[in-house]
Amino acid sequence: RTVYVNGDFLPEEDAKISIFDRGFVFADGVYEVSSVLEGKLVDNTAHLLRLERSLNELKMEAPASGAEITAIMQKLIALNGLQEGLVYLQVTRGAADRDFGFPKDVNPSLVMFTQAKSLLNSPAAEKGIKVIFVDDIRWGRRDIKTIQLLAPVLAKQAASEAEKDDAWLVMDGLVTEGSSNNAYIVKDDQIITRKLSNDILHGITRKAVLSLAEEVGLKVIERSFTPQEAQEADEAFITSASTFVFPVVEIEHTSIGKGSPGPISKRLREIYIKQAL
Ligand code: PDD
Repeated sequence: RTVYVNGDFLPEEDAKISIFDRGFVFADGVYEVSSVLEGKLVDNTAHLLRLERSLNELKMEAPASGAEITAIMQKLIALNGLQEGLVYLQVTRGAADRDFGFPKDVNPSLVMFTQAKSLLNSPAAEKGIKVIFVDDIRWGRRDIKTIQLLAPVLAKQAASEAEKDDAWLVMDGLVTEGSSNNAYIVKDDQIITRKLSNDILHGITRKAVLSLAEEVGLKVIERSFTPQEAQEADEAFITSASTFVFPVVEIEHTSIGKGSPGPISKRLREIYIKQAL
């Protein structure tokens, strides 16, 4: 694989980052994951706008303009012959001797790599996924896409040890979102998902899917729901750049609906993919 590190495209084994990089030492950085279909980035303008917002919230300098970043992403896709998969992009505050406050005169680091992945045809999309609940132990600014990801690492590991696919996070008796995706339930043909706030990541796929849902006449209600409501829902699903829409067929040992992907989840996946292509 060819990767990108601070101005250079090079084989992954030759890529180097300082051990003093603040991403490495403090998780002082932000990231984006964009999907690629038929060699083209999906909804990337929205991802770059969110990147800009994450950088602003952390008073971090942008490593390059949106147009420059897009050009680097496209070149990386071409160099790797990536048809379907993901581009991971990370910006950190740069490398400086360890000291908590912001360093002076340091350039931000920009790193990117691609991951080939089957996004259109996946067993999880066909069969649906099973999730467990875990406490949402994350910090108070989940709207910033920081690289500080220990809570989701532990949540996914807990799911994997329970032989399930993922975890939904619960705070104050309400579901916030999935470990790396937004969470939805469907009840009486209404799509219910938590409203945007600092408690969840403002998903790019969420935004696209909700507007497509409204376009086809489905009712969307942005409000929090309880774990019990989720288990009693007619359907459930998740969205993210790496999954698009995955139906959820089991929540904390309870089958959802008929225990197979529901019609609204399947339809939303279809219409999302259709407009993404
Ligand atoms: N995760 N919520 C969280 C906590 C996320 O980490 C993500 C994305 C989402 C969905 O956002 P989007 O639709 O913009 O991908 C929601 C990425 C895919 C990841 O960490 O790999």
